[in-house]
Amino acid sequence: MTEHPSRLAHLRSQTRAAHASIETVPCLARLMAPDLTSAAYTRILVGMLAFHAAVEPIIAEALEPLPEALMLLDGHQQRALRDDVAFLGAVPERLRPDVPVLPNLTSALGALYVVEGSNLGGRVIARRVAASLGVAPGEGGSFYGGLSAEMARARWTLLVQILEDQRVEIELDALAEGARRTFACLEQWMRRIPAEA
Ligand code: HEM
Repeated sequence: MTEHPSRLAHLRSQTRAAHASIETVPCLARLMAPDLTSAAYTRILVGMLAFHAAVEPIIAEALEPLPEALMLLDGHQQRALRDDVAFLGAVPERLRPDVPVLPNLTSALGALYVVEGSNLGGRVIARRVAASLGVAPGEGGSFYGGLSAEMARARWTLLVQILEDQRVEIELDALAEGARRTFACLEQWMRRIPAEA
């Protein structure tokens, strides 16, 4: 290991299994299928909205000392989800998902990596749901497809800068633990959602 191992590389390797596992959640796996139905898609968005609404405030609270990280928690995913859910004629979930325990700033940065990183995969998913359902940004497809490539890249660059800023003390195990807990809570929450039509 170098003196300053890349924190992003650490997060990637330590969450690879969690990401692979979440892709097997039945309702999420169906997102990629050509026969995805609007009802199944809508249930996913309703679930994701509940998760973001529950988890973002706790991440933001822990990241208060880091204003540049708070810039990423600007509510854009929740706004897009609310727009999509309304466009599709659904109502937000009343149940609240379990949220990850994030005891410090470092673990909250791990959680931020998960929330922000989902935009990367989102661009891949956006192409699939545009093909299967014909949704588009502003017309039910804002959550997965609402960020331009430039915006997605700019946000990711900012996240990496924050993570790799050596002035911020980061304990690698706590970083990975915060990310894995976030994946685990989301996975548990989304596994309740039926995948069928
Ligand atoms: C069917 C579900 C999913 C698919 C198909 C998927 C697909 C992908 C793909 C293709 C990438 C790489 C994008 C790139 O390098 O440009 C990616 C990255 C990522 N995804 Fe997912 N994803 C899914 C679900 C999720 C979920 C639910 C989350 C968390 C909320 C998530 C978090 C991440 C993270 C953190 C990265 C960044 C990894 C890195 O580069 O360090 N993904 N995903």
